[in-house]
Amino acid sequence: MHLGAQCLAAAAALLFARPCLGYPQLVDKIKARQIDAGSLRSSYDYIIVGGGQSGLVIANRLSEDSSKTVLVVEYGYIDTNPAQLEPSSATNYLSRNLFNVTSVPQTAIGGRRISVYAASVVGGGSTVNGMLFDRGSAEDYNNWAALGNPGWDFPGLLPYFRKSTTFGTPDPDIVRQYNITWDPNAYGNGPIEATFPSWQWPAISIQWQAWNEVGVPKMVDGETGNAFNAYWTPNNVDSQSRRSYAKNRYFDPVASRQNLHLLTGYRVNDIQFSSSKRAESVRIQQRGTPNGGSTTTIRANQEIVLCAGWLNTPLVLQRSGIGPQDLLSRAGVPLVVDLPGVGSNLQDHPAGRISFEYTRDIQPNQASLRNNQTFSAWAQQQWQQYRKGPLSMLVGNALATLPLPTMLSTYQSLVSRLNSQNAAQYLPSTYGPANIRGFEAQRRVLAASYASRTNGVVEIPFNGAGATSLVLEKPLSRGTVLMNPSDRLGDPTVDFGTSINPLDNEVYIASIRFYRQWMQAPSMQQLGPQEQSPGASLTSDQQLINYATQGLTSTTAHSCGTAAMMPQDQGGVVSPQLLVYGVTGLSVGDISLIPLIPATHTCATVYAIAEKAADLIKARAAGNSGTSTTTTTTTSSTRTTTSSSRTTTTTTTRTTTTTTTTRTTTTTTTSSSASVAQPKWSQCGGIGWTGSTICTSGTTCQVLNPYYSQCL
Ligand SMILES: Cc1cc2nc3c(=O)[nH]c(=O)nc-3n(C[C@H](O)[C@H](O)[C@H](O)COP(=O)(O)OP(=O)(O)OC[C@H]3O[C@@H](n4cnc5c(N)ncnc54)[C@H](O)[C@@H]3O)c2cc1C
Ligand SMILES: *[C@@H]1O[C@H](CO)[C@@H](O)[C@H](O)[C@H]1NC(C)=O
Ligand SMILES: *[C@@H]1O[C@H](CO)[C@@H](O)[C@H](O)[C@H]1NC(C)=O
Ligand SMILES: *[C@@H]1O[C@H](CO)[C@@H](O)[C@H](O)[C@H]1NC(C)=O
Repeated sequence: MHLGAQCLAAAAALLFARPCLGYPQLVDKIKARQIDAGSLRSSYDYIIVGGGQSGLVIANRLSEDSSKTVLVVEYGYIDTNPAQLEPSSATNYLSRNLFNVTSVPQTAIGGRRISVYAASVVGGGSTVNGMLFDRGSAEDYNNWAALGNPGWDFPGLLPYFRKSTTFGTPDPDIVRQYNITWDPNAYGNGPIEATFPSWQWPAISIQWQAWNEVGVPKMVDGETGNAFNAYWTPNNVDSQSRRSYAKNRYFDPVASRQNLHLLTGYRVNDIQFSSSKRAESVRIQQRGTPNGGSTTTIRANQEIVLCAGWLNTPLVLQRSGIGPQDLLSRAGVPLVVDLPGVGSNLQDHPAGRISFEYTRDIQPNQASLRNNQTFSAWAQQQWQQYRKGPLSMLVGNALATLPLPTMLSTYQSLVSRLNSQNAAQYLPSTYGPANIRGFEAQRRVLAASYASRTNGVVEIPFNGAGATSLVLEKPLSRGTVLMNPSDRLGDPTVDFGTSINPLDNEVYIASIRFYRQWMQAPSMQQLGPQEQSPGASLTSDQQLINYATQGLTSTTAHSCGTAAMMPQDQGGVVSPQLLVYGVTGLSVGDISLIPLIPATHTCATVYAIAEKAADLIKARAAGNSGTSTTTTTTTSSTRTTTSSSRTTTTTTTRTTTTTTTTRTTTTTTTSSSASVAQPKWSQCGGIGWTGSTICTSGTTCQVLNPYYSQCL
């Protein structure tokens, strides 16, 4: 890589590529179709807005047909920092790879502002995320179908979960020792590799027994619709515990396709429409240039696909004239379609810490890495020699996702109070009639899920330690992402609306009490668990609600729902074909389209959504070919000529760009490679949702949220 970078730098200096391009291995280095704005074609068949997780999946699939040209416009850059491939990156991310946005004060949780999680780097969330790779239960997805979306039930999605993923055989000793089970039929031979690391902490066996003792049986698998009760869940890593993600598995292998271009460091400001409301082009602006400065327009012949994530997909729509009419008029944006659902229906998984200390912990445990020299030296050796052992572990591999009836004997009372709520009273004040109808439709399916024994409402990740997070999986509260009317090119305003529906607090405190029961299970007594927080003296509803108010965080980085797939008269933004209502040629392919948040971490689901989206987009292009054959053929032959006659100049320009990018990241690369070899345990100790975390890059660690920490 360093040789490549030097060579590219030399080539750029000479403005002449020949000295380097003579070496095949170096040609390899620059074949990535990362282009600069000067090399853009004037039009593409498909323009994908956002080269994050879903955007790269869709780009890969659409460019399989070499006659189709595909452009991905990504605001972030390619991050070559090797630390992001390491297991320890699971609970730490680099601040430069996320948008720097904070919510408005969350009124129901003490007025705190909460940092949002929205990636801004090639690969998006998959580049920075915690690599816990699970799926929701069948009911989670069946609920989507029940909201008016045929084909989006679990049987309709399972082929796409399979298509995106391959299961790598884990270490048989660990599998035997801990009785790790999974369903091999859940996986196919797709790009993303998932497996279990070669280590677990021994106390987890006691925890499994204790779950069983409090009526939470172990499920053989959580991948084929059985993600409730307790189950093992893999990580999206290869056999060496290296991150397997959208950039290295969906983009890099196809980066040499001539019909695929990736433009980094540019933002799509808005979409422009023809008089018949066909999405015709995107307007892009270089990152770092002042708003209102120069922009470039690129046309799309076939379709524009929004993959800008939960934060920016609704924002781009709003800036383009698609959104709530009153907001657009306040911002002075001419109305294209009044869609009140754009930016509403924001959902996430709020979470709070719970912590017990084991007074008779068994050895080794997570603390042994810090306080037992012999053990930590052994762990280092296992890691350096074989990439195995405790340091190959990420955040953990077991989840208890608890149905409400499991935790709360009076669940029926809660469900009937939910049904009799005046919905509007507990929704954001900006919600109009369509949004309220949409929530009422969601409430009908949610009420069934709340009473179900095969669908969870709270997730408790466990890995042997006594401290973890209690995570609300089916919150009733809703939030918003709205363009700032006085600065439409600035950041949007985010309001998670955490706990504005008080029933969310009731579910949360039920989970605190159930966690206490779990800690009191007979098997657990050998560990001598002692409550630290909330603290055994806090027992009344009011005391526990106060604890929630002080400690809940709004997000575990699973924000979604802001351009929901719902009927249009229920605040929907896209149809089950993912086309934005009221216009043509525009679709959404990212996490924004989720109507109801599933009881799972969202990464695997986003792969399935994006794979399915790509199939839907291809199918409609095939169906359209009758009308557009002539145009397509002409365009495509012109394109071939342009592209080949451009090759030399394009390469030279591209070289310059790549050099700049590489140079920027090299500094970090050098300093972080050292720490990759020698993880400094406890540098950020005690943070993170299932144990201590470390910074493998950067030097200091900042906690913005009890769930993840940030390396600065
Ligand atoms: C810190 C963190 C930890 C997480 N941990 C886990 C986990 O352990 N397990 C799990 O399953 N899930 C996890 N997730 C969630 C999961 O990674 C995300 O839900 C998923 O990656 C979202 O994919 P997406 O394609 O919808 O959006 P993203 O991957 O966020 O992609 C959106 C892309 O669009 C770009 N963009 C935005 N606006 C524009 C614009 N106007 N023009 C051009 N480009 C633009 C952004 O830069 C970004 O790259 C985590 C997420 C984060 C952030
Ligand atoms: C993030 O934004 C805040 C407030 O605008 C600012 O103070 C801070 O420096 C920013 N952080 C980074 C890393 O840019
Ligand atoms: C292993 O797990 C399976 C699936 O839950 C269970 O049927 C079996 O009894 C377990 N075996 C042991 C030895 O615990
Ligand atoms: C420290 O670790 C070693 C190796 O795992 C183990 O044999 C020893 O018992 C541990 N010491 C203590 C005090 O737990």
